[in-house]
Amino acid sequence: MAIHRPLLIGALGLCAVLAAPAAAMAAPGPSEAGGASHHSDSLRSLAANIGLRIGTAVNTDQLASNEAYRDITAAEFSTVTAENVMKWQLVEPTQGNYDWSAADRLVAFAEANHQLVRGHTLVWHNQLPDWLNAAAAQMSPDQLRAILHKHITDEVTHFKGKIWQWDVVNEAFNDDGTLRNSIWLQKLGPGYIADAFRWAHEADPKAKLFYNDYNIEFTGPKSNAVYSLVKDLQAQGVPIDGVGFQTHLDTQYPLPDLQNNLQRFADLGLEVAETEVDVRTSLPVTPTAQSAQVAAYSQTLQACMAVRQCISYTVWGFSDADSWVPGVFRGEGAADIYDENLQPKPQYFALKQDLALGKGAPHRTGQGVGRN
Ligand code: G3I
Repeated sequence: MAIHRPLLIGALGLCAVLAAPAAAMAAPGPSEAGGASHHSDSLRSLAANIGLRIGTAVNTDQLASNEAYRDITAAEFSTVTAENVMKWQLVEPTQGNYDWSAADRLVAFAEANHQLVRGHTLVWHNQLPDWLNAAAAQMSPDQLRAILHKHITDEVTHFKGKIWQWDVVNEAFNDDGTLRNSIWLQKLGPGYIADAFRWAHEADPKAKLFYNDYNIEFTGPKSNAVYSLVKDLQAQGVPIDGVGFQTHLDTQYPLPDLQNNLQRFADLGLEVAETEVDVRTSLPVTPTAQSAQVAAYSQTLQACMAVRQCISYTVWGFSDADSWVPGVFRGEGAADIYDENLQPKPQYFALKQDLALGKGAPHRTGQGVGRN
């Protein structure tokens, strides 16, 4: 499996400072965040008031084994993203033998709880099956293209009608704005991106198709490159609906012009989404660092709320108990909105307060399955 590099958020010379004070907020008792039914002041209810979908990445092992985790997932969120179980490595562990079981269970959970699903992800350089990693270098471009085409067609067809947004291509760029030197670029050239969108559209014409990446939240070489890419795709008539801004943040780096950046993509006629929000910090967490985390969550949500075409705001897991962060960034963590005991943190209450205060936010469009 390819090694996933640590996210170099902040390496772009960003200009503003993550220093806004934490919003003062009353903290209701933790019990109101749990419970099997969603209350009128759950994140999902408050988001629904302004036509916004609020989501979480889901760890399907936790979903199967932990009732409190399950209750919060159902009660607080109106979309879910498979943290891992829709990735190629998981769905086709040996060539030609699909295992959709975990992803199917998540989709069934979403349907039972009236949630939409973000499909993550069809084309990535990471979490590829071992059989593909072993064989790709020896394949001809035509062979590899056929394998990618089949993967996209089979997966999108399997979930046809059940996925709201697909992350069709994930993390195709380097931080300097050049295309990542993945097997896809090496063998297929840059046209693999347009092909992937066309193939996904053929398999499920109603799913919203997104390009998704990290470190593109702010203007700079990488987000400029993605901006050029999506303009180019639009000019070619490629069926792309939106751009996903992962938004993996760290309190040691600045948080500059997110809203303006979202808006310039929206002005292209695209929908936008914050797809993997978390805000990590050095451990142990100091009060100052937590204030910065609260401010960052608040600012990222407010940026989405201020842009009419921002249709969903998704946290990359809600609990520090199963975050990807400590395994990748040594000495850092506490990136999520619930603590390791599944108790809501001030970050959670900041999101609630912003949603509650945002009743006048502009009307949004993309609330159902399919294009508007
Ligand atoms: O399932 C195996 C298990 O069988 C094995 O024993 C264990 C040993 O390490 O590994 C398990 O797989 C791990 C998998 O998560 C499921 O837990 C992988 O090692 C681990 O690398 C993988 O990490 C995921 C990571 O993507 C891979 O790059 C994280 O959970 C997931 O949160 C993270 O998500 C990515 C998004 O997809 C794209 N954007 C960045 C984001 C954070 O890195």
